[in-house]
Amino acid sequence: MTNKYPFSSFHSLQETQLSNHFSLLFFSQLHKISPFSSELLRKIMATGLIRRAVSASRVAPSARYVAARLHASEVEAQKVEPKASGETNLKKFQIYRWNPDQPSKPQLKEYDINLKDCGPMVLDALIKIKNEIDPTLTFRRSCREGICGSCAMNIDGCNGLACLTKISSVGESTITPLPHMFVIKDLVVDMTNFYNQYKSIEPWLKRKNPPEVPGKEILQSKKDRAKLDGMYECILCACCSTSCPSYWWNPESYLGPAALLHANRWISDSRDEYTKERLEAINDEFKLYRCHTILNCARACPKGLNPGKQIINIKSLQH
Ligand code: SF4
Ligand code: SF4
Ligand code: FES
Repeated sequence: MTNKYPFSSFHSLQETQLSNHFSLLFFSQLHKISPFSSELLRKIMATGLIRRAVSASRVAPSARYVAARLHASEVEAQKVEPKASGETNLKKFQIYRWNPDQPSKPQLKEYDINLKDCGPMVLDALIKIKNEIDPTLTFRRSCREGICGSCAMNIDGCNGLACLTKISSVGESTITPLPHMFVIKDLVVDMTNFYNQYKSIEPWLKRKNPPEVPGKEILQSKKDRAKLDGMYECILCACCSTSCPSYWWNPESYLGPAALLHANRWISDSRDEYTKERLEAINDEFKLYRCHTILNCARACPKGLNPGKQIINIKSLQH
């Protein structure tokens, strides 16, 4: 892939490639017997040290796996933190900065925020920094309630929506763009490839026959409608795809969990008459079968969806 933008993890794609999913599974067992507590590792991850360290090819595969696992712990990132007492409660945010108009290496810039004078969510802190400290800080946001998907970013090592992620009152927070994406500016990543993959599964109703009653809706039973639950709720935030190791390695040829979830949404729709063709179109070693059911995607999804389960369904329908 060629792109004029820097890669969002301070390093090149090639450097981050893990050897294969088998090593990932193997080291998942190592992680369980690790002498480090998961809390300690989470804190180390939050500093960005491990994530940057895994970019170096000399790093042991076990360390790489720890990074991948911790990166996906979305649930932990959204735990409610107790409010601190006192007049001020300063918290340090380290935020990824890169400006295409002043080409230099990306850097983490520090900002101190008084949590007593700030809303509870990470997006509140970002807006406060932009309004009161540094108007050049750039990020996407719109709805501020988990509907538009535009504020997806990596917060303390976990992908999530800034507007739904509470500010941790403990320690510093590190905020970086979605991993393994090209950065346009600061926390804004290039979503072109992601959207093209979504477009490629033809996410619209396709019919061979006109409605029974011309000009009327094509009806669906309640039971058939229920088959779309767990898929139609997707807001295309890309938290899942950018947490998927297979997607990191093959971002152009593997469709990734978000696009495949939507493929299954239309395959499962009783009103669609192109089920066979849809299945054939993605019956491909790279488009579909790069998924090895590790389920980072399900852990990352801020809407509680399970793209891995939908991918399993697609595979079960292939002959
Ligand atoms: S289960 Fe999810 S995270 Fe794992 S390979 Fe498949 S799509 Fe990627
Ligand atoms: S499945 Fe979840 S994480 Fe993935 S794009 Fe949809 S809402 Fe975002
Ligand atoms: S601002 Fe819309 S999902 Fe966060």
